[in-house]
Amino acid sequence: MLLHRMKLRGGKPLHGTVRSSGAKNAALPLLAACLMQQGHYELDNVPNLTDVMTMIRMLNSLGIRAEYHENNKVKIWNKGRVKHIAPYELVTAMRASFFVAGPILAMTGYAKVPLPGGCAIGSRPLDLHFQGFKKLGATITIEHGFVEMKAKKLVGDRIYLDFPSVGATENIMMAAALAEGETLIENAAQEPEIVDLGEFLISGGAKIEGLGSSTIRIMGVKTLMGQNYSVIPDRIEVGTLMIAGAITKGDVTVEGVVPDHIEPLIRKMKEAGVHLTIQENSIRVIGPDRIQAVDIETLPFPGFPTDMQAQMMSLLTFAEGTSIVKETIFENRFMHAHELMRMGAKIKLDRNHAILTGVTELSGAEVKITDLRAGAALVLAGLAAKGETEVYGLEHLWRGYDRITQKLQLLGAEIIE
Ligand code: EPZ
Repeated sequence: MLLHRMKLRGGKPLHGTVRSSGAKNAALPLLAACLMQQGHYELDNVPNLTDVMTMIRMLNSLGIRAEYHENNKVKIWNKGRVKHIAPYELVTAMRASFFVAGPILAMTGYAKVPLPGGCAIGSRPLDLHFQGFKKLGATITIEHGFVEMKAKKLVGDRIYLDFPSVGATENIMMAAALAEGETLIENAAQEPEIVDLGEFLISGGAKIEGLGSSTIRIMGVKTLMGQNYSVIPDRIEVGTLMIAGAITKGDVTVEGVVPDHIEPLIRKMKEAGVHLTIQENSIRVIGPDRIQAVDIETLPFPGFPTDMQAQMMSLLTFAEGTSIVKETIFENRFMHAHELMRMGAKIKLDRNHAILTGVTELSGAEVKITDLRAGAALVLAGLAAKGETEVYGLEHLWRGYDRITQKLQLLGAEIIE
């Protein structure tokens, strides 16, 4: 049932300045880590998202008191007692709830977490998480849709990840922080959100080295005492807002930016002919009359982020020439292409490649959002298309974009909710 929808009137260049919110993909693991960090403290710059509220409900169901306050703060009271079983309805509402597995195991020695299903973009297996927990000494049984993990004591070990999985790196790092002895995670993910989680744990007394590199060394400690901490800016929201400026041939400045977190996007947008002025914490984007075709290949950080693939595809539908987009991270992340084609985009899909032949115009249409970033891509296309675009399934968008409608309206977008 596609509940929420909005109507966009396209063709108007966006102008002005907009500030990003805190990173969804940092806030979610950080909140999970609050299960391990005892005491009374608060997280700042936490985005107001449905996924964040789901994780807050998860913490309260597991015995930690967590409260969201209007100024993007989450107050935490952790007395060191964590329940073992994560509720089914919360894990199925958001697969990132599985981030609680490592902390519960580390805090109690027994975790029972429902298996999250797959999602629109892929089957999303958890084998790398399980391999890591086993290496730390946990026994794992999967039955009746739950995974049960038991460990009298977690003992550090050397863990090699076959793929630099973001979630597996985060889950294993959290469990290892309270394990006995040293853990090495090799071929670890290097995303900025991993660094943010690691820094938060270190602020609570964890001993971690190598954050942001492919080898993370963790020396286990007995307890962690949480400290106040601020979430990094959302590099994917920043990138989405930058493309909004470029695709509408506007002049948009995005504030609350860590340029190093979006280096590959900056390079590709410049290659496509977008004028960027980069300051320490902001980027000004001026969209050219015609975008130039570029090729994109999604890769683990520091490569081009898969979470920006859909939004970049919307921009490239207008490019002069032929662009090739290769998606190497997820097996089914081109669903936005079908909706873009209904707006007039010329896209040929061939397994994990999308070949785009640029057009000069898209026509507004009724489109359906299938997943979070596909939704962003369709809103961007609607902002640039001729006529009106009605976007259905906004609930997907609200999982990952804090007040995105208001931010776009602030920049002059004509949105009728
Ligand atoms: C995180 O998901 C992000 N979500 C995703 O953002 C992001 O796209 C992804 O990292 C890649 O950057 C959060 O941080 C909450 P992975 P995660 O484990 O941890 C395979 C968004 O739009 N894999 O790095 O699930 C997996 O199937 C979301 O904000 C295994 O095979 O990503 C996928 O093909 C979407 N076995 C690839 O690795 C495992 O045990 C990358 O997954 C784990 C993963």
